[in-house]
Amino acid sequence: MSVILSSKAQLEQSLNPYWKRGATIGFVPTMGALHAGHCSLMHAAKAANEVVVLSIFVNPRQFNDSADFDKYPRTLTEDIKCAETEGVDFIYLPSYDELFSGQSVASEVQLNGLDLSMEGASRPGHFRGVVEVVYALFEHVNPSNAYFGQKDFQQLAIIRAMVSSLKLPVSIVSCPTLREIDGLAMSSRNLRLSQSERQEALVLYKALSFVKKHWKNRPSMEVLDQAKQLIAASTLRLDYLLLVDPDSLLPIANNAQSAVVCVAAYCGEVRLIDNMLLLAD
Ligand code: PAF
Repeated sequence: MSVILSSKAQLEQSLNPYWKRGATIGFVPTMGALHAGHCSLMHAAKAANEVVVLSIFVNPRQFNDSADFDKYPRTLTEDIKCAETEGVDFIYLPSYDELFSGQSVASEVQLNGLDLSMEGASRPGHFRGVVEVVYALFEHVNPSNAYFGQKDFQQLAIIRAMVSSLKLPVSIVSCPTLREIDGLAMSSRNLRLSQSERQEALVLYKALSFVKKHWKNRPSMEVLDQAKQLIAASTLRLDYLLLVDPDSLLPIANNAQSAVVCVAAYCGEVRLIDNMLLLAD
């Protein structure tokens, strides 16, 4: 059975023995609506740590649109079952007030411009909210290793930048994006898609796969344009499709050794993001 902790005091009481003896603590921060992608994070945490903590908190500070926050899927009963199946030791359900009780250094931390493009440009304040909540959660849990999915590629780069800038004693472990059999990237937001939207959303995987196939042999602008046309022919509304450097997240030219192609689009009301890492042979 996983132990459910709904206050910082309960968390501290439960983790104190582990902190005292320097046990490895694996931490999986989530906003709930858990799916197989989250299971893979819990699985990786379980394999490499003595104890695993999962947090579930839908963070209002990272939503620049309050309707999007209200509609974010909440499935706590199923989430608890899922965490128990994965052998999570502690499920932490923090409160807003305990997470954001005072001024935090995370509000000021330098993100080297990583937060200015893509999701940062389209969702002002989003990454500041992510950094604030992840920093607060790290302060509460004191993890040795924290697990994040590569589907949120920009988020991962930004969390690494925060950890490095603040010299936090935690290792960030990235886990591959999990996809449905037809290629759709797993996401909690997929729960909000209708059956027909779910089918239409596959065009994102097709567009990314197209770029992956052609980016080395043809001018990248031409490849990106054709991939954009695939999306334009669907019912999705494209926000961006960009080829960027995996470290700086700056737009990249053809002759790079590695790149990541990132996409964001609205499928009906639902904003979806996805990416693929591209490596030259
Ligand atoms: O990736 C997420 O689910 C969230 O952005 C995170 C990291 C849990 C912070 O709220």
